[in-house]
Amino acid sequence: MFLCPQPKKLELQGGYYSFPVDSQPQIFTKITPMLSQKESYRIEIDAQGVHIEAADEAGVFYANVTLRQLMKNYRGCLPYIYIYDEPQYYYRGFMIDSCRHFFTVDEIKKMVEAAAYFKLNKFHFHLTDDQGFRVEIESYPQLTAVGSVRYGSHFGKAHEDEKEYGGYYTKAELKEIVEFCKERHVEVIPEFDVPGHTSAVIAAMPELSCTGAQITPQTTPGVFPDVLCAGNEEVFKVIHAVLDELLEIFPSKYIHIGGDEVPKAHWNGCEKCQAKREELGFKTMEELHSWFSSEIALYLKQKGRKAICWNESIKGGNVENDNITVAWWMDRTDASLKWANSGAPVIIEHFAPYYVDYPHGMHSLRDIYMKDPQKTRGLTDLGKASIVGIESPVWTEYITDFKKLNEMCFPRWMAVAERAWNQERRPFADFLKTAQFFCDILKEMGVTPAQESEWNILPYTRLEQTLGFVKNNISKQVVKEFFRGKKK
Ligand code: ACM
Ligand code: ZN
Repeated sequence: MFLCPQPKKLELQGGYYSFPVDSQPQIFTKITPMLSQKESYRIEIDAQGVHIEAADEAGVFYANVTLRQLMKNYRGCLPYIYIYDEPQYYYRGFMIDSCRHFFTVDEIKKMVEAAAYFKLNKFHFHLTDDQGFRVEIESYPQLTAVGSVRYGSHFGKAHEDEKEYGGYYTKAELKEIVEFCKERHVEVIPEFDVPGHTSAVIAAMPELSCTGAQITPQTTPGVFPDVLCAGNEEVFKVIHAVLDELLEIFPSKYIHIGGDEVPKAHWNGCEKCQAKREELGFKTMEELHSWFSSEIALYLKQKGRKAICWNESIKGGNVENDNITVAWWMDRTDASLKWANSGAPVIIEHFAPYYVDYPHGMHSLRDIYMKDPQKTRGLTDLGKASIVGIESPVWTEYITDFKKLNEMCFPRWMAVAERAWNQERRPFADFLKTAQFFCDILKEMGVTPAQESEWNILPYTRLEQTLGFVKNNISKQVVKEFFRGKKK
């Protein structure tokens, strides 16, 4: 029998409950809040039908997902069975970047449908970046009028032309996505990435940068020096206004406020930023960065929301509020480790292997399946307990269409889902058969997983794919931008 994620406890009782092939089984559902932790459920199938008992509505949903998967294994009957199930982590995330390349509402819904089928429950929607600002903001319409359009796309072999490229989601469309997700117990977490990755914001509102220079949204991947000025009150006024509108669209507990890859060159050369740093008694611009993110997290706290920040935001070491969850993706300092070991919450989304925009040969299905976040080096028991979940991002510099998006994410997000739900690891070979079984079902949902030959390839092919990825995607311009960004 193939189920994904594998339930915590499953016992076959012997015998089968039959029902007409084209009808549904009898289902008896009850909610017992004291059953166990949130999202937990129990299924018992006997001669009368299917008995579902769940801790809450989410548990009922997950019981029904398991039942739908069971029914794909059998036709017109179900085995007498006892299942008890609960998630390992309450944060089981996937991220889609609609900035570098844009995906339609229908495409997003298909991805969510497939992710929810494997019990992923946090959709981190990356909506603003250097190459495009993709959410309608009524108080500053220029953010999309100017910020959503770039003139040319220079992403190596994946996308190379001089054409205008744009697109954004209206508020009505985003609310439609939120509603679709809610029905599937998926929380949509929008990301407004600040103070870096803001070329598109600055293209629309140059007065928010340190230099005031007019720029246009970026046409290449990379890290860019155009960041929001930390010493300008107007910047916070705009951020608050944008957040207010996001809060109205997205009822999520979490709001992602970015904070990754913030070059400090413009801050270093800016009188206002220097004055702010001195006023606050900071020695470094890293402290100013941490203060910046903290200020926004505090604003969200006043609104009853929690902030998620990429790990660069805490590098300054002076985050003094309890409203930040760190998205730990790549940390060459030990800031994230210290953060977790102090008992503060982290989401593990380590670049290797969770970034699924990288080829299967670099971050394989097996790598993802075998990774155990609890074994992250240096974590104390408190640090392990601070892991609220896992997230797997798909950045889209090199992903121009829906088919490619599908192939990069599936079946790898099945492995993410299983790891996030069930700490017990069944043999990889068993999981592999399960992944094979669900491929046709994914196709029925309109999502095409990668060809099986891609999933776990031999060392030589891994090397070939890695070199191919670098050769095809990393142009001279990209390398130049990368090192320009890192220097700053
Ligand atoms: C990131 O990959 N820049 C979070
Ligand atoms: Zn400045």
